[in-house]
Amino acid sequence: MLGRLRPVLVRVVPTVCLVVGSVGCRSVPDPAPSRSPDPRPIIDAAGEPFVAEPAKDEPTATAEAEAEAESKTEAGAAEPGPPHDVGGEINERYAEQQNPRRWALQFEREGREVFDHRDQILDLLALREGMTVADVGAGTGLFTLALAERVGSRGRVHAVDVQAYFLDHIGQKARKAGLRNIELVRATQDSVGLPEASVDLVLMCDAYHHVERPAAYLASLLAAIRPGGRLFVVDYIAIEGKSEAWLLDHIRATPAEFRAEIEGAGFAFVRAHEGLLEQNFVYEFERP
Ligand SMILES: C[S@@+](CC[C@H](N)C(=O)[O-])C[C@H]1O[C@@H](n2cnc3c(N)ncnc32)[C@H](O)[C@@H]1O
Repeated sequence: MLGRLRPVLVRVVPTVCLVVGSVGCRSVPDPAPSRSPDPRPIIDAAGEPFVAEPAKDEPTATAEAEAEAESKTEAGAAEPGPPHDVGGEINERYAEQQNPRRWALQFEREGREVFDHRDQILDLLALREGMTVADVGAGTGLFTLALAERVGSRGRVHAVDVQAYFLDHIGQKARKAGLRNIELVRATQDSVGLPEASVDLVLMCDAYHHVERPAAYLASLLAAIRPGGRLFVVDYIAIEGKSEAWLLDHIRATPAEFRAEIEGAGFAFVRAHEGLLEQNFVYEFERP
């Protein structure tokens, strides 16, 4: 691992390591080579700005439906157990279209619920100066830079993603903004890539359902969080009979099932933050 306080961007090939004021780098294989363009419409929980009728991609699930699913869980409908692995199709667009500006148009756009409510989502985290936090599945860094500002120069933010080009993009944004407390970490589908007990808080926004091997990943996530530290999972509400077909295809579980598998991995459920979002749930967990 490179030194923690290098002030310039560093790229080591074939291992990718990017530096913004300080360095974090975990070695993983390079992404699959790009394939030819796929004519299918892009279907992603973050919404698709390039399809003719984006409105049909809006989910219809409500908090009421979520509560229904929640009570089913309490009645034993979603028993805790190791989650199944997910096919790589869930992430193939990110491997195929390695253009962060294209993804920024999709992730950082008005009308995307988590973008419209990004400041309120950050308020829920109750961040304090000096904290060490991780933005896991950081993408184009919608939350990363704001997290870095909130934890201040004594704090640290790990921007974690499996795609090197997203990390590179965040590194460039951070340098432009003069933020030196962001560390870029390349994860794998089996591990978040953070040292044991190294972070106070993890935010996973629209990212948990992208984890392809959730059982292994959750174990690494639990280990990376300090005892008493917290995990916030923000993700789409997908409920049979309530949500649209594309969403049910894309999101593999109900909020209750996601909660059950995260608890099954050893996290303690703290609370559901309700009343802010309609299309997404916000669950807070703690490492006991
Ligand atoms: C829909 S984007 C969300 C980006 C950002 N959190 C946001 O809300 O704008 C999902 C991100 O998760 C990343 N991802 C997929 N699997 C991952 C994993 N196992 N660990 C970390 N990031 C992962 C993808 O590369 C992508 O950047």
